[in-house]
Amino acid sequence: MANITFTSPIMHGPKTVYAVAGDTKTILAVAEEHRIPIPFDCKDGNCASCLIEVTYEEPSLRKGITLTEKEKAKLRELGKITAQEIQDAEVLDLPPRYRLACQFIARDENVTVAFSGEPGGA
Ligand code: FES
Repeated sequence: MANITFTSPIMHGPKTVYAVAGDTKTILAVAEEHRIPIPFDCKDGNCASCLIEVTYEEPSLRKGITLTEKEKAKLRELGKITAQEIQDAEVLDLPPRYRLACQFIARDENVTVAFSGEPGGA
């Protein structure tokens, strides 16, 4: 079980929801299920409307990830991933600060997901 706390200036306050461990829903799917208004368009990693900033309750316990080439390329195009973060993702399997909500699978860890409410605005 993981707590996912969504926060945005367009929400009345932060909202924490529980994601079931082993579930393979994306953060965007969890948000939709709970009526959390993360902007989206393609749901396929192409438009970047769903850009989010993710912080980890226990940064040292961040789970390994597989950052797809598509997500990496899109984040690079937006200037939302550093060379160090790309290296950390490729070598250490560590997630970067910004993600695409439609590509990020909720895992068994507590995270805070921030978004501006503007498409691509994180
Ligand atoms: Fe288009 Fe996520 S909705 S990249």
